[in-house]
This record gives sequence, structure tokens and C-alpha cells, in this order.
Amino acid sequence: MKDWKKEYNKKLCTPSEAVKKIQKDYRVIIGHACAEPSIIIDELVKNKKFFKNIEIIHMVAMGKSEYASEENKEYFRHNALFVGGGTRKAVNSPYGDYTPSFFFEIPNLFKKGASLEPDVALIQVSAPDKHGYCSYGLSCDYTKAAAENAKIVIAQINKNMPRTLGNCFIHVNDIDYIIECDTPLIELKPPVIGEVERKIGEHCASLINDGDTLQLGIGAIPDAVLTFLKEKKDLGIHSEMISDGVVDLVDAGVINNSKKTLNPNKIIVSFLMGTKKLYNYIHNNPEVELHPVDYVNNPFVAAQNDNLISINSAIQVDLMGQINSESIGHKQFSGTGGQVDFVRAASMSKGGKSIIALASTAAKGTVSKIVFKLDEGAAVTTSRNDIEYVITEYGIAQLKGKTLRERAKALIAIAHPNFREELTKQALEKFGNL
Ligand code: COA
Repeated sequence: MKDWKKEYNKKLCTPSEAVKKIQKDYRVIIGHACAEPSIIIDELVKNKKFFKNIEIIHMVAMGKSEYASEENKEYFRHNALFVGGGTRKAVNSPYGDYTPSFFFEIPNLFKKGASLEPDVALIQVSAPDKHGYCSYGLSCDYTKAAAENAKIVIAQINKNMPRTLGNCFIHVNDIDYIIECDTPLIELKPPVIGEVERKIGEHCASLINDGDTLQLGIGAIPDAVLTFLKEKKDLGIHSEMISDGVVDLVDAGVINNSKKTLNPNKIIVSFLMGTKKLYNYIHNNPEVELHPVDYVNNPFVAAQNDNLISINSAIQVDLMGQINSESIGHKQFSGTGGQVDFVRAASMSKGGKSIIALASTAAKGTVSKIVFKLDEGAAVTTSRNDIEYVITEYGIAQLKGKTLRERAKALIAIAHPNFREELTKQALEKFGNL
């Protein structure tokens, strides 16, 4: 496209000019996770008096999330697709909402005429290349679909945003208002891995073979798994997201993607959360491709990877193998995210395995995460029909193809010893014998 530079200059504006294009009752979708456009969001909140009843849709919110605070409720209403620390209070109050969805289906909800069609997309992207294309950088997932379907696209173009490759570009001509910046990117520090996570990681690693393709969720358990994979060979990645831990295994030659049956020799992801270590590695690196989440997480796509191993976590597992990964009783704690997308993909993948890995207890050992029945109000994230492996620090329970009685027995065996007697009593009341 020849004259994109002229267009670029015409579109340059201040954050305050840009946000004033947002009108009463508009639906605004904010770019995801570490690519959150913080300058535009801050400006939105600063100018709140100009707005009325703006619906803010966001998923993993990493910033201050002031749009979700009670004092701003007459200007903004938060509709969360995933919940975090900054948005949890709003989502569980009269002034906020949560919309359940599989992550891979979210871009469909943004399409013209669909239930979450956006008026405005607020995004943060890389500087344009010589052809005028900006990379979505750290987050392609639903952000690309939001920008492609919104009436108005406001982009924060950050000199520090890495240029990631794949199906993750937007042309300057498709952006309406541009704000230039060079602010530091949001980082997610590596989690602390304790003894419990180490044991869980070791059990998970025992199910992973040379040549497997991995999907890893976020947090201490996936990172612990990676530390036990140093002796493996030819691993691949097809994952909703990755963080710093993957870089060490790429450097060590353990992850080389050579045996992948879909997109061989490439790491395929939808978003990235880490530190400069990860961001430097992915910049302009053809080894890593970002694609929209309706490709990466689509179970029919991901399942084309033979030997796909998915590893995710949970809040509660009941003795039938129903997995609650997102609520504490009636309280929406996080979200469905891509868990079910990958549980199903792994189950359809030739040689695949899906793992739910969790500590056996919460709240300093006072609460068992393996329970006879889920708490009242809890959501079933992964159904008992989908579940395959559950892992705690006490071992591995393989549930697929097992009866309800066998499942109860296998799950009690990996519960914390302090809770096994009570769980056994409850199971015996139900089954008569075990
Ligand atoms: N009862 C009461 N409280 C519980 C609990 C339970 N059964 N399970 C967890 N909690 C509390 C913990 O005590 C902890 O509280 P704190 O923050 O006050 O310490 C908090 O909930 C978080 O628990 P933890 O187990 O440390 O969470 P995590 O960071 O490992 O995340 C999930 C676990 C399940 C919340 C997270 O993996 C998730 O949101 N999953 C759903 C989406 C998904 O799987 N996506 C995958 C693709 S990326």
C-alpha cells in the first residue's frame, strides 16, 4: 500500500482526542493480557465525565482496571470474559457482568450482528513495517477479531512492542486513530515454584513422551512441569499462551517442534505473557507464530497435532471427575478460558492426553480441592465426560473409561491424606462399597 505514511500522519492524535470519539451506550473491547493499551484506558477513565453507559469487554485484565470500580459505575459497565484481581469485585456485584464462553468461540461473538459486536476496539500494536503493517505483538487471540469488527479502532503504537509473526497483523489503513508511545510493556514475572508444584510437575512430566506437542496453562504448575522436561527430546508447542519457561527449553534444544504433525518447526500460540526474556525471543522470530484464538484453540485445529498433551489447573474436582476451574461457590473467580478447548483437542488428538493438575488443598491446607460434590453455585468447567487425567502432588488418577465408583476411588487416592477418611465415608454412603 503506497501512501500509508500520509494516512498514518493524518490519524495521529492525543489519547484525549481519541477517546472522545466514544459515544454513549457504545460497546468497547479492550485488547488482551500483556498487550493491554494502558495509556488509552487511563485516558478513558480520566475523561469519564464525557461517557455514559459504556460497556467495557475485557478478558485477562493486567492493569488498574479502574473502569470496573464502583465509583465509575455510572460511566462504565464491565462485562468480563475472564476475571482477575482488578475486575473480580465488579463481576460479582450488581454493577458488573460475566459472559461464559469457550475462548475459541469469542471471536465469533464479535462478528457483525453477533451478540458482542463491538463499536470500538482499543488495541496496542507494534510500529508499522515498511509496508504499513503493525503486528499485534503479544496478543492476537480475540484482539484481531475485535479490531476487524469494530466501527472505530484506536491503536496505541508502542515502539517497545515486539513484532511477532503469523496471522497477526493490522494495516495502518485499518486503524482510525493512532497514539504513539514508548512505554514499557506489561510483564508477568515467573511464579514461585514450591515443593507441591514440583511434585505435580514431576507426575505430569511422567506422562509426556519425546516428540509430544504441549499446551500449557498459566502459573506455577505449568512452569514446574517445564523444569522436569530437560531430558526430553523433540517437544513441540501448540498452546493458547506461553511464558518465559518455554524459552529455556528452546535454548536447550528440547523444544524444536520437529515432530509436530500440524505447523511443523513452529511454536503456535495466541498470546504471550512473560518478561523481556520472552519478548526478546519472539521479536521477528519465524520460529514463533501468533494466530487468532479461533484457530489456535479450535479443538478441530489443535487436535491435528498428534500426541497433544494439555495441562491446565482447577479449583475443585468432585468424585465424579467434574472440574470447576473458575468459581468459588457462587463467586466467579476466573473464567473458562481455553481449558475445555484444549481438553477436547487433546482427547481428539491421536495419542493425545488431557491433564488437570492441581494442589490437593487450598487455603493453607484447610480445604480439600478434591470434594465429594462441588460447592453450591460452582460452575462445571470441564465435564465428567471430557476429563481424562487428574494429578495432584499425591499422584495420577486416570478417569476416562472408568465407572463412577472407580473414579471416586482413584480420586480419593490422590486427595490429601487429611481428607481421605471423610471422602471415603461420603463415597461409601453413595456407592455402598468401593
Ligand atoms: N476452595 C477455596 N479457595 C480456593 C480453592 C478451593 N477449592 N481453590 C483455590 N482457592 C483459592 C486459593 O486459596 C487462592 O487464594 P489466595 O489467592 O487468597 O491465595 C486462589 O483461590 C487461587 O488459587 P490457586 O490454586 O493458587 O490458583 P492458580 O493461580 O493456580 O489458578 C485456576 C488456578 C484454576 C484459578 C486457573 O488455572 C484458571 O483460572 N483456570 C481456568 C482457565 C484455564 O484453565 N485456562 C487454561 C488456558 S491458559
